[in-house]
Amino acid sequence: MPNIAYVNGRFSSLEEATISIEDRGFQFGDGVYEVVRTYGGIPFRLYDHLLRLESSARAVSIPVPLSRTEWEALIREGVQRSDYAACMVYIQLTRGVAPRAHLFPSPAKPTVVMTFREIPGPDGALQRQGVPAVTLSDLRWGRCSIKSLNLLANVLAKQAAADAGAMEAILVKDGLVTEGCSSNVCLVRDGNIITPPLSDQLLAGVTRAVVLELARKNGIVVDERDVPEEELTRADELFLIGTTVEVLPVSALNGVPVGDRVPGTVTQAVSDAFHRCILSETGQR
Ligand code: PDD
Repeated sequence: MPNIAYVNGRFSSLEEATISIEDRGFQFGDGVYEVVRTYGGIPFRLYDHLLRLESSARAVSIPVPLSRTEWEALIREGVQRSDYAACMVYIQLTRGVAPRAHLFPSPAKPTVVMTFREIPGPDGALQRQGVPAVTLSDLRWGRCSIKSLNLLANVLAKQAAADAGAMEAILVKDGLVTEGCSSNVCLVRDGNIITPPLSDQLLAGVTRAVVLELARKNGIVVDERDVPEEELTRADELFLIGTTVEVLPVSALNGVPVGDRVPGTVTQAVSDAFHRCILSETGQR
């Protein structure tokens, strides 16, 4: 089954797809993106991802060339063409092609790129055993609520985490936890979930919104407040949330085990609720 690409109105195989080297996404990282996942061929929370794409584009003044209905139709077509039940849809919107100059080109003709690839099945062992994480300084810019293509600081931190034998870096700015390189972060203390509040310092994760709502519906207290770095070391449980990781327990932080069992009871309850939600919205797990 093929990996599919879509570039400015045309579907092709991934290998055939090309864009200009003068695209501002390539030259400046001047663009925004989304990652959507399908279960049984059905995109999960597509509408929420499209709203965030629009809001990221608005924040950096890139005109969105497609309506929500058009995005949705193209995404469904791409998923269908790839024929993957578990498909990772990557959407990239850039300020378009223009001779390299910092100022916005006028008129701007945004580039739309999408790729459709298979996601490997859920790794049950990781979900059961959890993953190691490390804390690292958050060196990103001041508008991390925008899902910008500029991921250099995330890339460097993720690599540093991997070099230290960890799967994710939990980023810390001015003594406070922000998020992971590609996930949001929650800790559990005395049965309550604590997670940093939405701000310019972190992405308003689609998974975060779903998980926090489900937790509250299941009677778990959720406290959205600043999390000083040292609080991580006192956590009973720690977990990552995001489109790719779903709900993933952290087993050790900076080499020190987290809590006394992985997954902890709250992490497990939240993960179960999340998977029931996926099942009820897409018919699949
Ligand atoms: N990243 N925080 C950051 C910095 C992220 O990059 C992501 C997702 C999240 C979780 O957001 P969501 O629940 O909407 O996926 C939080 C995607 C998956 C990526 O860059 O691959």
